[in-house]
Amino acid sequence: MAEEEIEEVHVGPCVGSDAVNGGAQPHEEGLPRGRGEGNMFLVWEDLTVVLPNFGNGPTRRLLNGLTGSAEPGRIMAIMGPSGSGKSTLLDALAGRLSGNVVMMGNVLLNGKKRLDYGSVAYVTQEDILLGTLTVRETITYSAHLRLPSSMTRKDIDGIVEGTIIEMGLQECADRLLGNWHLRGVSGGEKKRLGIALEILTRPHLLFLDEPTSGLDSASAFFVIQTLRNVSRDGRTVISSIHQPSSEVFSLFDDLFLLSGGEQVYFGEAKMAAKFFAEEGFPCPSRRNPSDHFLRCINSDFDVVAEALKGSHRISVKMFLIYELQEFQNTSDPLTNLATAQIKALLVKKYRSSDYVAKARARIQEISTIEGLMIEKRHSSEATWLKQLSTLTQRSFVNMSRDLGYYWLRIAIYVALSICVGTIFFNIGTSYNAILARGACGGFISGFMTFMSIGGFPSFIEELKVFHRERRNGHYGIAVYILSNFLSSFPYLTVMSLATSSITYYMVKFRPGISHFMYASLDLIISIATVESCMMMIASLVPNFMMGVIIGAGYIGLMMMTAGYFRLLPDLPKIFWRYPVSYINYGAWALQGAYKNDMVGLEFDGFIPGGPKLKGDVVLTTMLGIRLDHSKWWDLAAVIMILIAYRLLFFVIIKFKERVSPLFRTLYVKRTLQHLKERPSFRKTSAFPSKRHQALHSLSSQEGLNSPIN
Ligand SMILES: Nc1ncnc2c1ncn2[C@@H]1O[C@H](COP(=O)(O)OP(=O)(O)OP(=O)(O)O)[C@@H](O)[C@H]1O
Ligand SMILES: [Mg+2]
Repeated sequence: MAEEEIEEVHVGPCVGSDAVNGGAQPHEEGLPRGRGEGNMFLVWEDLTVVLPNFGNGPTRRLLNGLTGSAEPGRIMAIMGPSGSGKSTLLDALAGRLSGNVVMMGNVLLNGKKRLDYGSVAYVTQEDILLGTLTVRETITYSAHLRLPSSMTRKDIDGIVEGTIIEMGLQECADRLLGNWHLRGVSGGEKKRLGIALEILTRPHLLFLDEPTSGLDSASAFFVIQTLRNVSRDGRTVISSIHQPSSEVFSLFDDLFLLSGGEQVYFGEAKMAAKFFAEEGFPCPSRRNPSDHFLRCINSDFDVVAEALKGSHRISVKMFLIYELQEFQNTSDPLTNLATAQIKALLVKKYRSSDYVAKARARIQEISTIEGLMIEKRHSSEATWLKQLSTLTQRSFVNMSRDLGYYWLRIAIYVALSICVGTIFFNIGTSYNAILARGACGGFISGFMTFMSIGGFPSFIEELKVFHRERRNGHYGIAVYILSNFLSSFPYLTVMSLATSSITYYMVKFRPGISHFMYASLDLIISIATVESCMMMIASLVPNFMMGVIIGAGYIGLMMMTAGYFRLLPDLPKIFWRYPVSYINYGAWALQGAYKNDMVGLEFDGFIPGGPKLKGDVVLTTMLGIRLDHSKWWDLAAVIMILIAYRLLFFVIIKFKERVSPLFRTLYVKRTLQHLKERPSFRKTSAFPSKRHQALHSLSSQEGLNSPIN
């Protein structure tokens, strides 16, 4: 039923050509499969990933000498117990390994070395999406960002609807995904949406990390069936999977079985049962094959059995049930051997089996296929302008629906402005008003901009989505930075106008529309500058807590040197005056605000009835402001700092992308040299699964009130 529906749905734009031009071909032994244009043959040989230990401890091998290949028109399952290295293998194949590990061996795409030519479509284990958008909106924006700009809106809508149906998302299509203040779609639906976003453009090579985790068996079947259909269009699909049902397992063409980083089996999925049977571990007729394979190689079972046996507080009844099961299964070879032994046996047998010879022969065959090219194309075909308008629109919608992004701050700004207005109400031009005006200006340009820190959690969420899309090659850095600025500008304007109009008219600063306009503009640009600074910090730190702390510290410093708490001429010349006060947006903004307010005003003198004090004189003598340039130059300086922050934000992201691979290469070289000096390295056995630490019986956990008493 599900299959029929899927066959009928409209699929992505690039399907036709490859499918027709001989994309996927039925598997015939010895014949190169899928020789169509853009086909991707991925081969990995003796792939080893190590976690170096520069101390005395052993170097951990996360993956140990894996060899395999993935081909167009086929879908491969990477299976293994938790912590066996499935995600690590996918990361290694996709060229996304984290910086602290080192890879050895070859990963060849169409015969060319490594996947460092650009981005690849990769559906990660966690869902990083904008919670304020609906399912349909998320897919639509993604489609507009990446599908060719020459396509009409109707065509794009058709593809979006097709993808929604393809991933079975019709029911939740108009529901919001959900965030901290909105309950949205379910985890499984989010998972399917993540896959929908990647299959939208029909990538030639698709990696998925546990796409079915959290899905019920029907949805899991549906998802894998869809991925199988995608592969049948001449695409190469590699997916890790956790304990699939027998129906789901049967959908995979190839199987790569891992345990503790070791290769237990690689070959056609349907031949795996034969391999296990040949090696003395036949799958019982009523057992799901994938369960059987994992039962054989998951050494965590040993630990669980030990924990159960060793637990003194386990109820007698439960223990008897366990013993009974053990007894009933005595004919099962699994109960005679520990799983660690079975695994070691299978790994050894596999290495000398026909399956390895077949895999090696196939790899050889692939390397002789001629005319295979790697298209260096990005996964996006939309023009820069189209991307800019789509991203700006998406970001604007996100900001409008996320309470914490701007609305909450706008409310607080209004409330605080009313407080400021009442505290400094009708400030006047008395002698005492001079300092009061200074304080009020200092508070507005200092604290009001400080509140930008409140948007940090939302910045971080948005940046996470940017990083995911960037890694998958959806758009460039410049387009993101510009769109973020454009979309936030209306909110900054509302925020600043609300603050300046309330404070201006309640406090009664220098009257006149031009003065009001200047004050508003000064505040808008200042807040935009602080926002840019926060975005820059957000791109540098790993989490929101660190961002808030660093951001608050930085703005605190800027406030201290802005010229209110310590007059600018009184700042220590070295460092604080030059250069800090010159690169401080707050110092320029405050100078502009003071000039805007006081130049042209007259204040009462210190002695009642004495001569009046001119605003210019007050500025230079009492507030330490130089009048050798106009307030507009001060505003221009803030704008320059704003641009500099945005450029710096761009440079930081670009630097991280460009320079980190260089550091990585250096790190790899150094590590390999270090490893060469340690002859013991080659002999080190693969690590046991450490993802889940050894299970301890509940009774052994002190202070834990065990439910099993
Ligand atoms: N960058 C890293 N630094 C340190 N250890 C790592 C790193 N990457 C992976 N590991 C370790 O390698 C092992 C395999 O991790 P991996 O995430 O690949 O397992 P997995 O098979 O995907 O597990 P799961 O099914 O739970 O997702 C784990 O013990 C993990 O802690
Ligand atoms: Mg994983």
